[in-house]
Amino acid sequence: MNTHVKYLGLELNSPVVAGSCGLTADINNLCKLEECGVGAVVLKSIFEEQIIYDIKRNTHMYAPVGNYGDSYEYIAQHVAADSVAKYFSLIREAKQKLSIPVIGSINCFSHENWITYAKQFQDSGCDALELNMAIMPFDTSLSADDVERTFSNIIQSLRKTISIPISIKVGSYFTDLAKFMQQLSWSGIQGITMFNKSLQVDIDIDHETLRNADSLTQPGELYNTLRWTAILSKKLRCDLCATTGVSNAHDIVKLLLAGATAVQVASCLYRNGVEYAKELNDGLQEWMKQKNYENIDQFRGKLALKQNDKASMLMRTQFMNYFAEIK
Ligand SMILES: Cc1cc2nc3c(=O)[nH]c(=O)nc-3n(C[C@H](O)[C@H](O)[C@H](O)COP(=O)(O)O)c2cc1C
Repeated sequence: MNTHVKYLGLELNSPVVAGSCGLTADINNLCKLEECGVGAVVLKSIFEEQIIYDIKRNTHMYAPVGNYGDSYEYIAQHVAADSVAKYFSLIREAKQKLSIPVIGSINCFSHENWITYAKQFQDSGCDALELNMAIMPFDTSLSADDVERTFSNIIQSLRKTISIPISIKVGSYFTDLAKFMQQLSWSGIQGITMFNKSLQVDIDIDHETLRNADSLTQPGELYNTLRWTAILSKKLRCDLCATTGVSNAHDIVKLLLAGATAVQVASCLYRNGVEYAKELNDGLQEWMKQKNYENIDQFRGKLALKQNDKASMLMRTQFMNYFAEIK
């Protein structure tokens, strides 16, 4: 049986990809993930602030750049530990020790000169770059156009800087998600990874303070990813990598049926250990065997909306049917 897929123009033995997280910052985990059959690994992200600080440090301009406010000290600490240099060594080591594709990751939010540095990611050997575009529409002075313009400016500049495949990781907070994802897919990138999960904030009612909520996703979060994968997979002109809410092999099957090219996992590896990647691959193959599928293309996108389907009408009919049946 063949679980081979082509993702971002790269040959993957499996559509199961280890998503960017703390686990993928460690070379031993990366080796284990390869042994367990993942198709590729996305390294933990480096922040654009770290890159910018490094540029300034190397050019002896220590003054803070950009609008980083209180986070400046935090950034300084990271750079003091040579995090950018360490990141490039991790890429080089991973490329030496692994035979699966290694995807670098940058968490960015502005069109600053960190982009010129992206060439070093390529030179360090990574096979592709995933940009976690962490631009959240929190600012009341920013319009949807402003946010979308930042996306296209970053992509255009990056496209001129590097030749390796680029994937854009997005959240789901867009005024016009379907239309904007389609426009992004026309912008010369090779993939869209959806959805990024932003940090969740909770309130501690005893101390009346803010605190971080659990960073791992819950199984129910799959449905949002599944819906948008099914709606968009055939309407994009680039690959769609689905992520958020995968907890077992059947979830991977569902996302492939909805049209995902590849599926990224993180929380289930934290919960069950990196070896769980093997169970995910075995479960996918077991399902394919039961269904007599010999390769992924035989079923990928079977339950996706067709290119000319009107998603809103289909969803409305489904919604009406569902509520009409409830007594
Ligand atoms: C502890 C933790 C750290 C993460 N760090 C990153 C990161 O550095 N960059 C990134 O793009 N995504 C990061 N993510 C998000 C994951 O790559 C993934 O998109 C998200 O967790 C949803 O997938 P899941 O439901 O399989 O966890 C992190 C997730 C977790 C749980």
